[in-house]
Amino acid sequence: MNNGAIGVFDSGVGGLTTVKELVKLLPNENIVYLGDTARVPYGTKSTDTIAKYARQDIAFLLKRDVKMILVACGTISSAMMHEPIFENVMIPHSGVVLPTAEAACKATKNKKIGVLGTSATVKSQSFANAIKAIDPEIEVTAKACPMFVPLVENGYTDRNCVVTKLIAEEYLDIMKKNDVDTLILGCTHFPHLHDVIQDIMGDGVKLISSGAELAKFAADALKKDNAFCDRQTEGKRELFCTDSVELFTETAATFLGKDNHAQIAKCTLKT
Ligand code: DGL
Repeated sequence: MNNGAIGVFDSGVGGLTTVKELVKLLPNENIVYLGDTARVPYGTKSTDTIAKYARQDIAFLLKRDVKMILVACGTISSAMMHEPIFENVMIPHSGVVLPTAEAACKATKNKKIGVLGTSATVKSQSFANAIKAIDPEIEVTAKACPMFVPLVENGYTDRNCVVTKLIAEEYLDIMKKNDVDTLILGCTHFPHLHDVIQDIMGDGVKLISSGAELAKFAADALKKDNAFCDRQTEGKRELFCTDSVELFTETAATFLGKDNHAQIAKCTLKT
């Protein structure tokens, strides 16, 4: 048993897809979330910069009695395959890449998987490498979708939004041409565009949310380690952002629901 909180972080609001799934799976656990909204996007930055920011994010969470840290960001999870960011961190931690690659390999029938991510994620080939390590016969098509992140951060997520649809059609064209039957939403912002993407790809294509896969992985890991809390009431959800609380509160309400009971505060990271 461990009553520490689950620490989750992302460059912005994307990691709330992990929080949403965690709340569903483990309602009694305390969660501390950090969204580095002042510096989002990370996905257009260099590996060095992403790693530097990620270490500051981790240092913030470590001060808050967390029992585990989840990197709810495809970009940071990809960068950490090249740059260590968890040096001297003694608690369990995971990124999205491996749990998501495993789920996609299980889901594909025609062995054609697509990966949507930020520029940094696609450049790193993290998902492709993880998939190939599981099954070298799987064909991987990866596409960077940098314009998806600002669309999500600004709430342009409705399936009827003309601008979003137009951009998504352009990005997804290659996925349709290459006949993928499984599509990884390798950036945790992208599940917020689930409906737009599913409409374009059609119901025959299975979408895999990296944020949700990470939450399932965390629940399994806590179970294996016998590290669930012993609380019998709903856990506390503390959400921190590094920019406007007002904006973050609005977005959090869209993503987690209006009655999400979360406490939201602005924080400053030690740089
Ligand atoms: N949520 C981040 C990810 O999963 C992307 C946003 C960014 O570019 O910072 O890659």
